[in-house]
Amino acid sequence: MKIGVIGLGYLGVTHAVAMAKLGHEVIGIESDREKLKLLSSGKVPFFEPGLQEALIDVTKTGNLSFQEKHDRNSASCQLHFLCVGTPQEIGSYAADTSHVFAAAEELARVVSEYTIVVGKSTVPVGTAEVLRGRMSELAGFNVIVAWNPEFLREGTALEDSLNPDRIVVGSWDSAAVEKLREAYKPILDNGTPLLALDVPTAELVKVAANSFLATKISFINAMAEVAEVAGADIVDLAEAIGMDERIGKKFLRSGVGFGGGCLPKDIRGFLSRAEELGVGAAVDFLRNVDEVNLRRRDRVVELAQQELGDLQGKKILVLGISFKPDSDDLRDSPSLDVALRLSALGAKVRVHDPMALGSLGDRYPELERAKEIETGAKDAELIFLGTEWSEYKSIDPASFGDLVANKLIIDGRNVLDVAAWQAAGWRLIALGRNVHN
Ligand code: UGA
Repeated sequence: MKIGVIGLGYLGVTHAVAMAKLGHEVIGIESDREKLKLLSSGKVPFFEPGLQEALIDVTKTGNLSFQEKHDRNSASCQLHFLCVGTPQEIGSYAADTSHVFAAAEELARVVSEYTIVVGKSTVPVGTAEVLRGRMSELAGFNVIVAWNPEFLREGTALEDSLNPDRIVVGSWDSAAVEKLREAYKPILDNGTPLLALDVPTAELVKVAANSFLATKISFINAMAEVAEVAGADIVDLAEAIGMDERIGKKFLRSGVGFGGGCLPKDIRGFLSRAEELGVGAAVDFLRNVDEVNLRRRDRVVELAQQELGDLQGKKILVLGISFKPDSDDLRDSPSLDVALRLSALGAKVRVHDPMALGSLGDRYPELERAKEIETGAKDAELIFLGTEWSEYKSIDPASFGDLVANKLIIDGRNVLDVAAWQAAGWRLIALGRNVHN
């Protein structure tokens, strides 16, 4: 099948590669020339495990090509996937859908016959209907629009795309569903269910799923706040409640909270859209979810001050600045936010990350970049582990202790072996854990 993928960010590149791997002829459209240049030379513009190799493989087969603008060839694709971003609007909670509309309108101007457009971007419920009207008006015929939200996680994006838990399709037109069944056939043949839903439900499934996940994380972090004052241990508590199958163990990892380009902006966008629809009260708890999440960052800063007093001139090493391991994405990263706040309070902050230092570029010159963990640790008075990369979990606390000025560490992800660190003479503070020594 000839398939167009419009917008080549995390979602678009992964989707384009996945569709090419399924044997389709994929044309990726990206207006950012820098990104396009990289992709055309076989380089993924961000770090995502396995994606670089997969991109090279599919490019060799000739199944994947990239271009800046639509042409007659791309206009004739059987499916056009919209994968552009919907970031939080500046100065409001709402999702900025302008890129989705711009991409759709551009496409509507070049298509000349029967066209199926499939939205994958996360949008406020009701967007697809407006978009269908606008595209049809511009194209001069009824453009078929379907919504097919994506549930991939950064770090496991390609695997999630090729082996999803479910494929959700919202459509007014059964022809679109059938075409998507055909496109996803190898995935469906592996037993993945395809849910054909109405369009508002499909749009809502995505924000509801992300809201639930965010709520689960904030729930455990709220319990961590209570555990801290009650002398209880959040890791033990999470394990105990997670054994109840109705609750489940996943997404109950406490720590410095959630970040990234999805959960924070999606719960805010949902709050904003629900208010517009007159049902703000129904999801008002998401405001609390957001607040609990941000309070965990405050707590780390508070702990640093509690331990070191005035932070002016204090040397602090932050381990991990990406919003999660196996990603170089810094969008709304909790640990980067903490690093910047510590620095704003006068601390000399060094940051280390196995992959994300490049994403910093020349932003935040106040943060000293540590290329190696060891150099970063030299004379540090406090270590803050903000992202649980595997290399941090395997640090040997004994030899590491020789490098620092002060054996003090805040484990912001509750992943370190407390007994081993304490045995090596460290004072380890873990969020919500009763392990202080
Ligand atoms: C999230 C969803 O999990 C995906 O299903 C969805 O497709 C994606 O957003 C999206 O909307 O595009 P992602 O942001 O890549 O995926 O990462 P998650 O694994 O959800 O982690 C988000 C944040 O929550 C990270 O900062 C992570 O460290 C934090 N987290 C996660 C916790 O603090 N505790 C947990 O138990 C789990």
